[in-house]
Parts: sequence; C-alpha cells; structure tokens
Amino acid sequence: MSRTVAHVVGARPNFMKMAPVFDALAALDQPQLLIHTGQHYDEKMSDIFFRELGIPEPDVNLGVGSGSHATQTAALMTGLEATVLEHEPAAMVVYGDVNSTIAAALVCAKLGIPVVHVEAGLRSFDNTMPEEINRRVTDVLADLLLVTSPEAYGHLADEGLDVDKVRLVGNPMIDTLLKHRARFDAAPVKAAAGLPDRVAVSTLHRPANVDDPVVAQQIVDALKQVAKSIDVAIPLHPRGRQRLADLGLVSGDGIHVIDPLGYVDFVSLVSGADLVITDSGGVQEETTILEVPCLTVRPNTERPITITHGTNRLVTPAELAPAAEAVLSGEVDFPTDRPPFWDGRAGQRCATEIVAFLDRLGA
Ligand code: UD1
Ligand code: UDP
Repeated sequence: MSRTVAHVVGARPNFMKMAPVFDALAALDQPQLLIHTGQHYDEKMSDIFFRELGIPEPDVNLGVGSGSHATQTAALMTGLEATVLEHEPAAMVVYGDVNSTIAAALVCAKLGIPVVHVEAGLRSFDNTMPEEINRRVTDVLADLLLVTSPEAYGHLADEGLDVDKVRLVGNPMIDTLLKHRARFDAAPVKAAAGLPDRVAVSTLHRPANVDDPVVAQQIVDALKQVAKSIDVAIPLHPRGRQRLADLGLVSGDGIHVIDPLGYVDFVSLVSGADLVITDSGGVQEETTILEVPCLTVRPNTERPITITHGTNRLVTPAELAPAAEAVLSGEVDFPTDRPPFWDGRAGQRCATEIVAFLDRLGA
C-alpha cells in the first residue's frame, strides 16, 4: 500500500488552508501529491497564491474550469477519479467547502480511499448555500474530521457522525496569516490603488448577494451610502462583476472597484482598513485575528466563533450603512478573547493527526 497523502485544492480559499498542512507534512518527510483541480484558474485567483505562499507547483492540474454545479462537479469527479486510480494515494486531504472538496470526497469514498476533511463541522444551517451542501456531504464521507472550532463537535454529533473521528486542530488559514504577518504593509497597496489612508475594504461573491439582482442592488446602494463617509476599496471577485457593474458598482464618488488582489496585498489592505464589509468565509476569520471590524452581509454564518470571539457582525443590506456608521464612530465593542488554537500551529496539528491516521490504517 502506498503511503502517499494526496491533497485536492481548486478554489482561492483552499490554497491558504492547504499551505501550512502541506509544509508540516513535508517537515515530517511525508510523501505527498498535490492535485489542483483548476476550479479557479485566473492568475489572480490561483497562481499568485502558489508563488506568494511558496506552495510547490501542483503535481497534477486537471484544468476543470467553470460551469454549472452539475457540469463542474461532474468534470471534477471524472478528472479526480482517473488521477486517484493512477496514483492510489493512502489518503486524500480535502479543504473547506467548495465544489472541488465534495467532488474529491465522493470520488475517494467510492474508491475506498480514506478522506481527511480539514475545516470539518462548520454549519450555517442554510441549505440555499451550495457550500452548506458541500460541507454536510463531505463530512458524512470523511474518515478523519479536523475542526477549526469547538462547536463543530456538536454539529457532527447531531448529524449522527462518530465523534471519535473528530480532532480540534485550530485554523490553518490563520497559520498562513501569522506566518506572513511581517510582509503585510497597507501603505504601498493604498498608494498603488490610489486610496486614501482611511479606507473600508469590501469583498462580495456569494450567489445570494451577487446573483440576485434585487439583493445586489440593495448592497450596491448601501456601499455607495458608506462611501459618503469613507472610501471603499472593492477587490472584486470575477463572479458577479458584470452584474454589480450593471447595477452601478463602478469607481467614483469614494468607490474604488479593483481587480482581486494577491494574498499579501489583500491582507495588507485589510490590516490597514478601518472597516471590512464582506460575505467571504475566510475574511471573517482573518479580520478576527487582525482585529479589524467586519460587517458580514449575510443572514447567517458557519463561523459564529468570529462573532463570539472576534470582530464580526452579521448585517442585512438595509442595516449595512448604519452599522458601518456605528463602527466608524467607535460605538461598537468587540469581545477580547480570540478563538482557541488559532495560534499558528494548526498545520502541525493536522500533520500529526494525518500521520497517526496513516499509522492506524497500516499505510
Ligand atoms: C467558489 C466556491 C465558494 C468560494 C469561492 C471562493 C463553490 C460552489 N463555490 O465560488 O464557496 O467561496 O469559490 O472564491 O465551489 N471565474 C473566473 N475566473 C476564475 C474562477 C471563476 O472568471 O478563475 C468566474 C466564472 O465566471 C465562474 C464564476 O466565476 O463561472 C464562479 O466560479 P466558481 O468556481 O463556480 O464559483 P465561485 O463563485 O468562485
Ligand atoms: N483574498 C485575496 N484577495 C482578494 C480577496 C480575498 O487574497 O482579493 C483571500 C482572503 O484573504 C482569504 C481568501 O482569499 O484568505 C478568502 O477567499 P474567498 O473570499 O474567495 O472565499 P471564501 O473564504 O468565502 O470561501
């Protein structure tokens, strides 16, 4: 039996979660295979993160690209099945909640390849989110569930999953943040983008916000309202870019629509922001550690620990502008204790658990 551990990544947030796990396994001389599905493929959605985070070139790139959920997931599964059959890894590590994650879990479960899920057990309890479906199915299929926050145990137990498979390892995305902290410098990023010193940063890409024209219009109008008080920099995800532009989200009057940024520039800008407005999962976590106030334009979050132990607040589009005013005028207090184990050593804990798991398998 091979002892190789394979990793599947495909979309932007996967890369910063995988990097510390890969590095920690490499430090243990663990043989590894890195599979990039190509779900994200623009230079600024993919390659830049490999360069900036020092991630090795993937061993395999499936080049799957975009499509409807069924088209994309089918292509992901077809490509992954052939790759797994060729390489026969001892285990497959999957990250987060994107289509590449569920596709890899399904393929491996049916081929009898054990699945390790990093960032297991998060739940928004909102099945209108594609990610919630991906999380639930991936967790059912996983053999080792590595969780970022303690409430995941309860979610997994409530779904009848065996909590003996669960380990609290902390947050590998925060490992990446802490590892690169010395590189973050907001001033040159602001200068290059023509931004003033005082700035809010916004990212938006959830289908519920950018695909629905009624909601999207409410958010565009709210951002314009916020921009009357503070310049708003919006590194815009390719999803919905055209729709948001058609609805009036264009540069001018304090709004700065820019291309997606690389990791170092993005986190630099966030670290030097007065406020963040987002619907991203990862950005809720990063702002918690950077201690930058974060308004999340969603009705729920699978990351409630960023509210109880961080700087995050949920807002509706109608609440966004007044909530931003309250933050900017210093009216909002945030909890002071940070989530347990978000300490820069989650990758090492993942690696320790994965190696012990391989030993139990007899790999
Ligand atoms: C995906 C994930 C989402 C995650 C987000 C991170 C799923 C179901 N969704 O959403 O959970 O928060 O990534 O960024 O997996 N596109 C490009 N260039 C690219 C990639 C995408 O132009 O490099 C455009 C295409 O028009 C594509 C659209 O973005 O159709 C959506 O891409 P897709 O990967 O399907 O989903 P995301 O919205 O990016
Ligand atoms: N990010 C980035 N450049 C950007 C926007 C986001 O590097 O222009 C990073 C961000 O710091 C975080 C990750 O991308 O680490 C989050 O990915 P995204 O918001 O696309 O996905 P989600 O976390 O919502 O699944």
